[in-house]
Amino acid sequence: MGLQRVDYDRTQHAGYAKGRRLLPSSRRNWSRAFRGLAGDRPIARVADVGSGTGRFTPVLAEEFAAEAVGVEPSARMREVACAESAHPLVTYVAGSAADLPLDDASADLALMFLVWHHVPDRPAAARELARVLAPGARLLIATTLADRLKDLLLYRYFPRTRAIDAEVFPTFAETVDVFAEAGYAHSGLVEVHHRSADSLAEYTGRQRLRALSVYEHLTDDEYRDGLAAMEADVAAETDPRPVESECDLLAFTRL
Ligand SMILES: C[S@@+](CC[C@H](N)C(=O)[O-])C[C@H]1O[C@@H](n2cnc3c(N)ncnc32)[C@H](O)[C@@H]1O
Repeated sequence: MGLQRVDYDRTQHAGYAKGRRLLPSSRRNWSRAFRGLAGDRPIARVADVGSGTGRFTPVLAEEFAAEAVGVEPSARMREVACAESAHPLVTYVAGSAADLPLDDASADLALMFLVWHHVPDRPAAARELARVLAPGARLLIATTLADRLKDLLLYRYFPRTRAIDAEVFPTFAETVDVFAEAGYAHSGLVEVHHRSADSLAEYTGRQRLRALSVYEHLTDDEYRDGLAAMEADVAAETDPRPVESECDLLAFTRL
């Protein structure tokens, strides 16, 4: 299919924070899952790699009462993070997964949330993350996996997005192999229940912002048709129907 890379500086930064706002129940579920997979070591410093608009960086700081550093390559996404996700324990810095502005063994935990599929050289990123993680520290990866696709509502309205996800995302085995090669042990996989919106109307309002990178791979016609079908169902929505799914969270321990 030959999909183009998504440029967060060009498009996604504009609608991302609003389009992907974290609902309180999802925030709680993710915090609990991070805690459950973080391991037993004391955590003084967390790296949120690919922190975007800072959706999860303050969540990490609060859950672990730790300093949290959001590392993000897109200047426009960082600007939104600094303006909208400021927190006394959080800093946002420029960098990418394969080039982290952090000292050796300086992080006790790292998170990459919906970032792994954007990383062009995953083996290099796995090695760089191993450099900055302290021995025994955990790396958490929230990602879609090509061989564990969920039944997303999105796939019903925009049918080609399922095939796009199957192409864009790595499989479970590919992901485990990359980290095994770079000196990590696979330490867990959990499904986290994520509520995207409390109703189809709210969800559709968010989709109008086109703030999902998979939409970048659709034609304007495909996007418009999917949205029109959604709007028709919203018009018929009497009782609010929450939009929810399970999401995979993987844990690796730096050996
Ligand atoms: C889907 S967003 C996720 C942002 C944030 N983690 C969240 O969940 O809200 C993907 C982010 O990864 C960033 N990104 C892209 N390539 C990256 C790389 N090589 N290293 C680190 N981050 C990257 C993008 O700029 C974008 O902000």
